Amino acid sequence: MQSVVRIERLTKVYEEGERQRVVLDDLSVEFSSGQFTTVRGRSGSGKSTLLNLIAGIDEPTRGQVMIGGRSISKMSPRERAHYRRDNLGFIFQFFNLIPTLTVLENVSLPSELSGRSEAESHTRAAQLIDQVGLSGREADFPDRLSGGEQQRVAIARALVEEPVLVLADEPTGNLDRVTGELVLSMLEELIRARGLTLILATHSHRIAQSADQKWALVDGKLEPDDETPF
Ligand SMILES: Nc1ncnc2c1ncn2[C@@H]1O[C@H](COP(=O)(O)OP(=O)(O)OP(=O)(O)O)[C@@H](O)[C@H]1O
Ligand SMILES: [Mg+2]
Repeated sequence: MQSVVRIERLTKVYEEGERQRVVLDDLSVEFSSGQFTTVRGRSGSGKSTLLNLIAGIDEPTRGQVMIGGRSISKMSPRERAHYRRDNLGFIFQFFNLIPTLTVLENVSLPSELSGRSEAESHTRAAQLIDQVGLSGREADFPDRLSGGEQQRVAIARALVEEPVLVLADEPTGNLDRVTGELVLSMLEELIRARGLTLILATHSHRIAQSADQKWALVDGKLEPDDETPF
C-alpha cells in the first residue's frame, strides 16, 4: 500500500532549563494512503507534538517528515504554509473556529484562501455543511452552536478542499461520550467515502476501535496498541 506520510528517525527534544525532555525518540513509521490510523497515548506522551510535526507547525530536532515523497521538514516556512493549505486538514480538540465568521464563512475560508471565487467557495462549503447535518445553520456564528455542532463545522472546514491528509488531535476530547461517538462516526464516514488518510490522536481506546492501524505512543516510541485503557 502506498504511504502518504513517512516519518524518518524523528526526534523532538524540548529544553527545560538545564534539562532536556525527549518527547519523540528516533521514531520511524509510515502511514498508508486511505487508512485511518490512531495514535493513542497518555497526556504528555507527545501526541500533539507528533501531529504538529507532521503538519509542519513545529520543527523536529532531528529526522524528517516526508509527505507524498517530499520532506516538509526541509521546506521554507512559506512553502510549508502553501503545502499545509493544499494538502492538509486539521481538526482540533477545541474546534478553533473563527468566532467573528459565520458557519458558512468558516467552512468557505480554506477554499477562498486557495484562490476560489467567493461564489464557488460558498457552494462547496454549503455541500459540506449539508453533509455534516447542519443545513440551515449557515448564517449562525460559532457561539450559537453546541460543542458537537462546532466540531462538525470544523470537520466540514477541514474537508472542504479535499486534503490528502487529515490530522485530528483529540477531536472528541471536549465532547460528551455520545456526542463524541456521533462526531467520530461522521468524520470516519466522510473520510472513508473520499478515500482520505486520517491520523487521529486520542487517549481513548474506544475511539481507536474502528481504526485500520493502531499505535500507542510510549516513552517517545510508537508501539502496536494493545488497547489497554490508560
Ligand atoms: N513548546 C513546548 N516547550 C516545552 N515543552 C513542551 C512544549 N510543547 C510540549 N511540551 C512538552 O512535551 C510533552 C508532550 O506534549 P504533547 O502536548 O505533545 O502531549 P500530548 O500527548 O498531546 O498530551 P495531551 O493528551 O495532554 O494533549 C509534554 O511533557 C509537554 O510538557
Ligand atoms: Mg495533545
